[in-house]
Amino acid sequence: MSASRLFTPWTLRGVTARNRTIVSPMCEYSTPSGLALPWHLVHLGSRAVGGAGIVFTEAAAVTPEGRISADDLGIWSDEQRDALAPIAAFIREQGAVAGIQLAHAGRKGSTDAPWRGGGHLDPGQRGWQVVAPSPVPYHPAWPLPHALTLEEIAGVWEAFVAAAQRADQAGFDVVEIHAAHGYLLHQFLSPLSNQRRDEYGGTFENRTRLAREVVEAVRRAWPAHKPLFVRLSCTDWVDGGWDADQSVELARVLKHLGADAIDCSSGGLDRAQKIPVGPGYQVPFAERIRRESGIQTIAVGMITQAQQAEEIVASGSADAVALAREFLRDPFWPLHAAQELDAGIAWPVQYERARPVPVA
Ligand SMILES: Cc1cc2nc3c(=O)[nH]c(=O)nc-3n(C[C@H](O)[C@H](O)[C@H](O)COP(=O)(O)O)c2cc1C
Repeated sequence: MSASRLFTPWTLRGVTARNRTIVSPMCEYSTPSGLALPWHLVHLGSRAVGGAGIVFTEAAAVTPEGRISADDLGIWSDEQRDALAPIAAFIREQGAVAGIQLAHAGRKGSTDAPWRGGGHLDPGQRGWQVVAPSPVPYHPAWPLPHALTLEEIAGVWEAFVAAAQRADQAGFDVVEIHAAHGYLLHQFLSPLSNQRRDEYGGTFENRTRLAREVVEAVRRAWPAHKPLFVRLSCTDWVDGGWDADQSVELARVLKHLGADAIDCSSGGLDRAQKIPVGPGYQVPFAERIRRESGIQTIAVGMITQAQQAEEIVASGSADAVALAREFLRDPFWPLHAAQELDAGIAWPVQYERARPVPVA
């Protein structure tokens, strides 16, 4: 058997993932009510069956206007919590850790599903008035967002706390705060979208205030034995925007506030971004943040090959890898990767008879 590092357990606080492969959060655009449906059980459940260490839900909205599309999962009501509970239970029964991503879309909300064009939905057409730090739209053709008042900003972190409490009650063991991809918390971080002149805008300290408040408040409400991740866009890929230096600095602060890992993504804030997309193109952010801030990191973005994932973890560039599209192509990616790396991994007993027999 090989000495794969990818297929060693990963313990954070009181929770242990059986290996270091993660199903990255992926919107399914499949529930007009925000309630988890059979689709979500089958989609997430089959990836737990497939051997992943942690299975994350899609971005679950903490308020109705925090949805990205009109068909996103929600976790702003007890009914939504109760619909998610059997999914968390099923994921755990398969030996995976159940994770949930909590999100507020801000100015990038009120959209249609990508397969219906992904355009802006007006209020009355299943859409809503979007909110943001400042009245600067993401797309020039979209309506101006409403700039949040100080009272409304307090409502945002309160909504994250209530969502985290529901996530705990639903049986999730890891929570990830979505502060990436140009959604509300990222909109506060970046000087390109945050033009406020109060204590939430201007300096690094002010722009990071809401992200810090959310992490601090969720950490207090989320059980001490359960890990908390934060997904950051480590750069906007635009001059004058949020960048890697600021991400390192923020990661240090978030570690101090009790975050356990930074999920290192990038982009999504400004349409002028120029992203050098290629295999593992965001891994250097995970490596740098891990090295300079001392927090554990997750690498994500065009990680598709077993050897590639193994190398990222074994070299110490990241503590774990998250895969998105490759998990859509192959729900059993960890079972197949373990075979390729000659790492022992349990197959679901129901599938044992299909397990490839090693060639002598
Ligand atoms: C269909 C789809 C939906 C996504 N939804 C989310 C989401 O809800 N939250 C999030 O943080 N990222 C989301 N992403 C981004 C992925 O989590 C991931 O960061 C990105 O696809 C890069 O990884 P990959 O190259 O392995 O696909 C989504 C990606 C896809 C393809």
